[in-house]
Amino acid sequence: MRVDALMSRFGYCSRREVAQWLKRGRVTRHGVVVKSPSEKAEPHEVLVDGEPVEFPGGLYVVLNKPLGCTCSHKEDGELVYDLLPEQWLRRNPAVNTVGRLDKETSGLLLLTDDGAFEHAQTSPKRHVPKVYAFTTSAPVPTEAVAQFASGEFLLQGERTPCLPAELEILGECAGRITLHEGRYHQVRRMLAAVGAPVVTLERIEIGPLKLADLNLEPGEWVEIDPSIFS
Ligand code: URA
Repeated sequence: MRVDALMSRFGYCSRREVAQWLKRGRVTRHGVVVKSPSEKAEPHEVLVDGEPVEFPGGLYVVLNKPLGCTCSHKEDGELVYDLLPEQWLRRNPAVNTVGRLDKETSGLLLLTDDGAFEHAQTSPKRHVPKVYAFTTSAPVPTEAVAQFASGEFLLQGERTPCLPAELEILGECAGRITLHEGRYHQVRRMLAAVGAPVVTLERIEIGPLKLADLNLEPGEWVEIDPSIFS
């Protein structure tokens, strides 16, 4: 890859700005200052300001999304992208969330610049289990366990029933639900439909990733190995 392409790919600067960076000797390859934007280099061979290129093989992280921020690049108010290092937001391809969590849902959220990974994870064929912990403003009826597991539970306005979901009731107004798909506001709509509107909602597992094992404060993220999903 050309050094100017590399610099813009990983979010350091635009291709036009690369010459300035090189003039100041900020980029080295195998310890030698790179002079020309057209020089070829592999990301792992290069240091920028003495530091290796971040996520040279693609960016895969999981964030503990705090309440109150939106999974969007363009809405008003606080965005999940405001929590990330600025350089990530200049990467090309862009860093995106893998699916979305509602503004008032917290917990595990994958982010990547790998479009193929993003599509594979969100594909309806994939069925990666996602576990949500919730509290509700009214007790969850015990019949909901069988209703949600049946594969016949139809949400208002939809034609296809929800895939079987595992509901665990853990207290009068608390529980967990495991979904194998991701429909719009799905947990909130399912619980509201059985008379138990959601008060709090947190995604605590995505496939092999468990919030409890990751030790992430709200707003913190950690790199993951995407092969754990294959
Ligand atoms: N279900 C919801 O209702 N909201 C989310 O954010 C995720 C799943």
